[in-house]
Amino acid sequence: MPITDTSLTHIVLAIESSCDDTSAAICVDGKIVCNLTAGQAVHAAYGGVVPELASRAHMQNIYPLVDQVLKTAGVRKEMLTGIAYTRGPGLVGSLMVGMSFAKGLALSLNIPMIEVHHMQAHVLAHFIDEPKPTFPFLCLTVSGGHTQIIRVNDFLSMELLGETQDDAAGEAFDKSAKVLGLPYPGGPLVDLYASKGNPEAFPFPYPAAPGFNFSFSGLKTSFLYLVQDGVKADPDFIEKNLFDLCASIQYRINSILLSKVKKASLETGIKSIAIAGGVAANKGLRSMLAEKAIENNWEVFIPDFQYCTDNAGMIAMAAWYKYLQQDFGSMDAEPLPRWKIW
Ligand code: KG4
Ligand code: ZN
Repeated sequence: MPITDTSLTHIVLAIESSCDDTSAAICVDGKIVCNLTAGQAVHAAYGGVVPELASRAHMQNIYPLVDQVLKTAGVRKEMLTGIAYTRGPGLVGSLMVGMSFAKGLALSLNIPMIEVHHMQAHVLAHFIDEPKPTFPFLCLTVSGGHTQIIRVNDFLSMELLGETQDDAAGEAFDKSAKVLGLPYPGGPLVDLYASKGNPEAFPFPYPAAPGFNFSFSGLKTSFLYLVQDGVKADPDFIEKNLFDLCASIQYRINSILLSKVKKASLETGIKSIAIAGGVAANKGLRSMLAEKAIENNWEVFIPDFQYCTDNAGMIAMAAWYKYLQQDFGSMDAEPLPRWKIW
């Protein structure tokens, strides 16, 4: 039965711990009033997320972060009416930290829990701030682990139109950066250097994938071979071509992404286009999307930067729609590292 009593104040604490960011947010009557995220610098030295270290860092971060988000929002824990957490998909050890914390707090306060799907939350980040898309819209969800085109029919009704068959777009950015000797996560650095380079300096191939699906592994290999051959011929190849290499690989990744969005828009007739996930922070993707919007008469939606990369604000937003339906979780739930909902 949906919650209809609007005379009460509904305050939901949300926790995100699916990968290497610990985040907590407070949602009051459907509005995100505070969203705080603690990154984990420990992984940079290893060139990627080390799951064991991620769980340990979540353990250290979670209590101080929740305490801080409550204080910043001016909320005492006794005022909470619900606790949301990411149940999956993600790293199992990381998910377990957020989930166990949420269960303990929910049990002690005797309030319901809301289980949130991380990718559904990336899409619903569009409902945190204005302007909000109207249904139906298409959402390109691009992160370190996923690359999907979703048809969004309603807050909790979404259909998967296509996804990557191998690497995610974020992985393509991070692995290219690694080949160039840049630290993890390399996506933001590729973005920064790309702004100073020529996107047509190195024409990379356009890997084929059926329908609305994507493939990035062939692109990753051709980038690796080009750089290896370049370094063989000139040991300073990377240094001399860093900006052009970043601009060219970024251009190719983004053009692959947006060509499939165009195909999906043409075939569904939907012209409201949203982008979500960490790669949605990419400046090249944002400006290419703006150009395509004019070309194709699209209305485009991009969340605020803090709500593109992993954050608990989006978890709170997704939880809010389940909370209104009283779609509550159970104390014996386990994490779902590969949670398939579409
Ligand atoms: O959504 P997210 O924070 O975490 C996952 O759920 O995976 O996405 C992280 C991914 C990483 O691959 C990171 O390099 C990429 O998003 N990313 C970027 C940028 N900012 C984050 N990629 C390209 N350009 C950026 N500015
Ligand atoms: Zn994510």
